[in-house]
Amino acid sequence: MLQDPSHSPRTPRFVQVYREDATALQRELTQGLLQPQAHCSPKFLYDALGSRLFEAITELPEYYPTRTEAAIFAAHGHAMARVMPADATLIDLGAGNCHKAAALFDRLRPQRYVAVDISVQFLRSALESLQRQHPALEMWGLGIDFSAGLELPADMAQATAGPRLLFYPGSSIGNFTPDQALGFLRSVHAACGHAPGSGLLIGVDLVKDASTLEAAYDDALGVTAAFNLNLLLHLNALLKADFQLQDWRHLARYDTHLQRIEMHLQARRSLTVHWQDDSGAARERRFMAGQTLHTENSCKWTLEGFSGLLQQAGFSGLQHWCDEHERFAVFWAQAR
Ligand code: AVJ
Repeated sequence: MLQDPSHSPRTPRFVQVYREDATALQRELTQGLLQPQAHCSPKFLYDALGSRLFEAITELPEYYPTRTEAAIFAAHGHAMARVMPADATLIDLGAGNCHKAAALFDRLRPQRYVAVDISVQFLRSALESLQRQHPALEMWGLGIDFSAGLELPADMAQATAGPRLLFYPGSSIGNFTPDQALGFLRSVHAACGHAPGSGLLIGVDLVKDASTLEAAYDDALGVTAAFNLNLLLHLNALLKADFQLQDWRHLARYDTHLQRIEMHLQARRSLTVHWQDDSGAARERRFMAGQTLHTENSCKWTLEGFSGLLQQAGFSGLQHWCDEHERFAVFWAQAR
């Protein structure tokens, strides 16, 4: 790849496609709050404080996924690099602070790094400092809502002629129900493009005993409870709502049939919540004591189940690596 003299020394390029639309968010939230089972997308867990609380969760003794996945990369990174394309465009879905992908640069030796998140603001400082550490690597920051579909901007797609390595760590796929996950993986498959060798490297949390799972989502220190309850502060800000934190309790239950952790906020007493919808009109919802607002699904997969899902989405040549207790898995799936 020729170095563009106008970009020397290299700096990351940023493209913001997603436009936040407060009205659309208010409409979406109002609709969810008025359903018989009130619900709210887990994306609303991640305001500034929520993102910090999530980082704290990853340090908790009970929350095994982050450190287990890191240990799998550390133990098997060499074997992974052998089956993955060199000189690829590494496309990091939900890059955040870019730490996980950056830890793989030495092993994978990508030609180009594309960090994708909802807002390039989240990516700016991380990518700029990463660029100083890796001055030769071409870097892009891309602001899209990839949960709604994954399409690379035309100028970026043109710049990425070789193999693409899509990276989706952390079991973020768990927030999708199996149906949604299939649709999402099909769009990832399409985004792999046509160059031979392209594929997806993805981390997935595995089915295990309910007590381990419930402890991971209801830790003794109460950080996950704070993370979940903070959603109400975010809703108060977004909707001018009047949720009172002391009226709500954090719940995390493993549903063995649906193979998922469900997080809810449960009303401690009968109460009425008031807010403003997207047109500014007053809205309210009554919660009886014990009724809940469903805030997150975190689906767990078996190795067989997730292999089948990847194949249904069009991937082949699957390989996976696990920790010794088979708590977590990292899959490599070839696009063609
Ligand atoms: C970021 C979706 C992978 O489901 O484990 C952690 C979010 N929620 N504790 C997960 C989460 C509560 C996390 N993901």
